[in-house]
Amino acid sequence: MKKHIAVLPGDGVGPEVTMEAIKVLKKIAEKFNHQFIFKEGLIGAIAIDKTNTPYPDETHRLCLKSDAILFGAVGNPKYDNDPQAKIRPEQGLLKMRETLGLYTNIRPIKIFSFLINQSPIKPKIIKDVDFIFVRELTSGIYFGKKGRTNNNQSSFDICNYSTDEIVRVTKIAFDLAKKRKNKVTLVDKANVLETSRLWRETVTNFTKKFPDIILETMFVDNAAMQIIKNPKQFDVILTENMFGDILSDEASVITGSIGMLPSASIGEEITLYEPIHGSYPKAVGKNTANPIGSILSVAMMLDYSFGLKKESQAVYNAVEKTLNNALGTKDIVDKNPLSTSELGDAIINFI
Ligand code: IPM
Ligand code: MG
Repeated sequence: MKKHIAVLPGDGVGPEVTMEAIKVLKKIAEKFNHQFIFKEGLIGAIAIDKTNTPYPDETHRLCLKSDAILFGAVGNPKYDNDPQAKIRPEQGLLKMRETLGLYTNIRPIKIFSFLINQSPIKPKIIKDVDFIFVRELTSGIYFGKKGRTNNNQSSFDICNYSTDEIVRVTKIAFDLAKKRKNKVTLVDKANVLETSRLWRETVTNFTKKFPDIILETMFVDNAAMQIIKNPKQFDVILTENMFGDILSDEASVITGSIGMLPSASIGEEITLYEPIHGSYPKAVGKNTANPIGSILSVAMMLDYSFGLKKESQAVYNAVEKTLNNALGTKDIVDKNPLSTSELGDAIINFI
């Protein structure tokens, strides 16, 4: 199989972890006789430095003609401390999601047995946790009108949702649930927000087409608590953009390290894969960041975008074997931690 992959390493530890994921893809290509062609594009702070825009047209064109996108991270502290900054690295990511139409973000939360003791939550609570976030990604408060009024003394961010936007992401959640435990939990704030009431109405109507799916609804504040108290109850969590952003970071921590988790952002035409951790500025250039989130993202790519299930499983199994041999970066092992590149090499050895 021949596939073109757009590689957007971005900022912070993005380039370091992405490099390991590419090593893994090259190993898969060699072992299973495929051809992956990689082309790099700019995004984020590095793109601002070089081109004055966080998502250059050239990067957009590269993405459009590729079969899948591998993304690292965006963000640079020099922008975080400057509320006046007009151009920000994060705008690159948001613009890419919007222009490529990446309307659904999938974040699996799965516990590797090796990491059970690494979690801040008691082992009996997190053992066998396996659920998946389906987060709406191109609408809601992130993309609504925003601004200042009253001489800069007032501000607003509008949260908008249409039924079409709700239905297309709900469809993905239900399709996933059908292949899992047939349960969808819609997380909202329908006791307060009108957008949440539309979500509830729309998703409840949609359930009629899927009589096998059990739909549960949960307020977001309660969901934040249940993810810690009893995460095993979840199968597929369906939610809007900002709730999904917040809850998926919360959930990532119970797995032992945010550095482990992959994600996929699905569009009509193309899908983007990225680790869920961000640019992690403190670790930049130290070769210590955990590459597993990025490596499991390419496992998702092989399966979801290319239909290469055997190859995807090979990556997943190699990660599992590596962990079972107590090999990991310093966020997951206490004794003799490996560097980013050493961990990448160890995983490749098990493929
Ligand atoms: C994420 C990130 C982004 C988001 C930021 C970087 C804009 O936190 O992918 O979860 O809020 O969506
Ligand atoms: Mg986030």
